[in-house]
Amino acid sequence: MAEELTIHQGDKAGQYQALIPQIEAIVADENDVIANLGNICAALKQQFNWFWIGFYLVKGNELVLGPFQGPIACTRIAKGRGVCGSAWQQQQVILVLDVDQFEGHIACSSDSKSEIVLPIMQQGECVAVLDIDSDTLNSFDEIDAHYLKQVVAIVEGFI
Ligand code: SME
Repeated sequence: MAEELTIHQGDKAGQYQALIPQIEAIVADENDVIANLGNICAALKQQFNWFWIGFYLVKGNELVLGPFQGPIACTRIAKGRGVCGSAWQQQQVILVLDVDQFEGHIACSSDSKSEIVLPIMQQGECVAVLDIDSDTLNSFDEIDAHYLKQVVAIVEGFI
């Protein structure tokens, strides 16, 4: 893998377009799931510097905290609870522009203001979620959803 990530300064779509091939290269030669999830969080953090980026892994009837970048976070989330548990239950991307408007949002940190959660699927079942939190309102939109789905597709290739 490359030793260093090249950070792109253009518009958001351009930043994703520069980052995603690098993420593909980072995970290409490594088959350890935790190592790859850790580096994906780090790459997203380096490029976008969001407040919190992490994976929750489905274990039994809960999501359990996996590799992440950011402050300490809730370790277990029940199915259907919060944004993460809802994305798991609904098997859909959930974009929250203002977490205070999301019924049942789990506030791991009061600094989290907006959020996007994407389910990671294997054979029709959600096995993990990618959760990204911002400390400003309205941080995520359809451009993020579009490109983060590509990141999720990379994860679905090795998880
Ligand atoms: N806010 C999330 C919980 C996870 S943390 O933000 C890291 C939720 O409501 O699912």
